Amino acid sequence: MRDKPAAPSEVRGVPVRKFQKRLAAWYQANARNLPWRHTQDPYHIWISEIMLQQTRVAAVIPYYERFLRQFPTVQHLAEVSEQELLAAWSGLGYYSRARNLRNAARRIVELGVFPDNYAAIRELAGIGDYTAAAVGSIAFGLPHAAVDGNVIRVTSRVVCEGGDIGNGAVRKKLARVANEFLDRTSPGRHNQAMMELGATVCLPGEPHCERCPVVKLCRAKALGLELQLPLKRKKTEIFRLDRTILVVENQGRLLCWQQPADARKMAGFWELPEQEHLPKAVLGEALGTFRHGITNHVYNFQVFRAESAVVPERFHWLNAVELKDRPMSTIARKVLRLFTLVAYR
Ligand code: ADE
Repeated sequence: MRDKPAAPSEVRGVPVRKFQKRLAAWYQANARNLPWRHTQDPYHIWISEIMLQQTRVAAVIPYYERFLRQFPTVQHLAEVSEQELLAAWSGLGYYSRARNLRNAARRIVELGVFPDNYAAIRELAGIGDYTAAAVGSIAFGLPHAAVDGNVIRVTSRVVCEGGDIGNGAVRKKLARVANEFLDRTSPGRHNQAMMELGATVCLPGEPHCERCPVVKLCRAKALGLELQLPLKRKKTEIFRLDRTILVVENQGRLLCWQQPADARKMAGFWELPEQEHLPKAVLGEALGTFRHGITNHVYNFQVFRAESAVVPERFHWLNAVELKDRPMSTIARKVLRLFTLVAYR
């Protein structure tokens, strides 16, 4: 069997062991006293992590304690009626979490024990990568970094990652980095320390760097970029517009116009007329529609045959050979394809 590659001593210029040690010492001294931090019982840890998925810590505490009094074992949870379950969950919201909990509890009872490997934990209803890593590391010491929004933020600052965290590839890269930082001697403690740092110190708008145990190792801080990171680009607004294109035919030739040589876009390319070019045109058969996207615009084109008594300046009649040989814009080519499909069907 091949040896595992040695853990890197530095990740993007940050010394890994120093980072782990400072974080662990800080967590030891500063961890909030939360009820699920006094147990190794996978059932209890699982319940806490599911409750914490979409609910703040302070709101979770009383629910967690009441829920475990009401359902002290996974068997109790597996056998509860839906009405009783929803009543116990009432107020926490996102009720699919409660239904998934009961389905997973039934599966665990079938298995006979709480699964102790990552893949099997991940298969339980309602458990994604983050929760599988959190439960696996805290309850069983499995070496998986739990990567949620807090951990993405902390990690992006520590290694000064400038990519957009709205982008899946950037998030994957940061998840890899978080795994390289993971303290394999104590993954559960490390994961909780990272969550704690994100929740209490390395905050989104105003990181409290003066209280941060790893500030001296933080690449973003060294470069004065801690307030700028992580980068999350606003989704660019998409503009949707309807446009109408006309196919005006005369003895096998089509009416076209050419973009001037100094046009900002598509200079020199040939186009087909739009309705505003020929306001007096009489529309005929509808030939079809197509979409065309340009940066943040999506155009919905409707194509009609049309007749026009007027041929404005700049317009020319092109025959089939000319249409093939001249540079036609993409939009014009889409129209011609529609036209040939319809005209020669
Ligand atoms: N958020 C998600 N999991 C958590 C945990 N175990 N402790 C504190 N906050 C959390």
